[in-house]
Amino acid sequence: MARIIDGTEVARTVLRDATRRAALLKERGVTPGLAVVLVGDDPASATYVRMKERDCAEAGVQTFDHRFPADISQTELDAVIDRCNEDPDVHGILVQMPLPGHLDAEATIARIDPDKDVDGFHPANLGRLVRGLDAPRACTPWGVMKMLEYYGVRIEGADAVVIGRSTIVGKPMALMLLEANATVTVCHSRTRDLAKVCRQADILIAAVGRPRMVTAEYVKPGAVVIDVGINRTDAGLVGDVDFEAVEPLASAITPVPGGVGPMTRAMLVANTIDSATAATSDVGGA
Ligand code: GUN
Repeated sequence: MARIIDGTEVARTVLRDATRRAALLKERGVTPGLAVVLVGDDPASATYVRMKERDCAEAGVQTFDHRFPADISQTELDAVIDRCNEDPDVHGILVQMPLPGHLDAEATIARIDPDKDVDGFHPANLGRLVRGLDAPRACTPWGVMKMLEYYGVRIEGADAVVIGRSTIVGKPMALMLLEANATVTVCHSRTRDLAKVCRQADILIAAVGRPRMVTAEYVKPGAVVIDVGINRTDAGLVGDVDFEAVEPLASAITPVPGGVGPMTRAMLVANTIDSATAATSDVGGA
């Protein structure tokens, strides 16, 4: 029987610390602020944004809502980003992805002030991650690192396998594990004998977006299994891991829901407070 890695519990500790830090900023006259940009009416994105805003409110981070119909032009979206970049009350900018196809997601991300890029998606911040420098970090993989740390999972020297190579999760996840001295393998749709590669993993991270793809044959007995997938199916929300099949084999495993999801939101709040703290010390210091 695997230990259940409870993301809700770890997120609570992150948010408790965030709330304390937000209160300290308020004593100095600064309310941490997050601009939330949502384009279109994708119900999943709307739900994620609502939950992110709720976590912000509970921690004492104010949110500035910017919602637009799916047909907003790139010029209009650029102008919104520019205003948020210049607004001193905005310390973080979140543009919920994916954007509708006619918009240029890369250009939009690159337009965000890297100091306000609380998603850690800006090329400058991803570049800093590659170089091992301090920078806002992508919330989902950063949240996974915090969960592993909280549960005392030894990363140094471990064989870690990441399934998925997205810029939001897979690639930054691999870099963070590498930074923590794991031996990292990144798998993707062209990987040969995926199950065999995954069976090498002491730490297996599934971030592919395919419901219950990771079955028992992918998992070495005793592995730690982290399920980043959130797939909407007729049977409800399911992860990328077949939980019932894998749980008896694993030493620890995240559930879906209640695993990685709450951590993504908690790290967004933490990143926003980091950004507000940095902006505030810039003003007070020097
Ligand atoms: N879409 C899926 N995950 C994320 C995330 O972490 N941030 C943003 N902005 N969009 C997402």
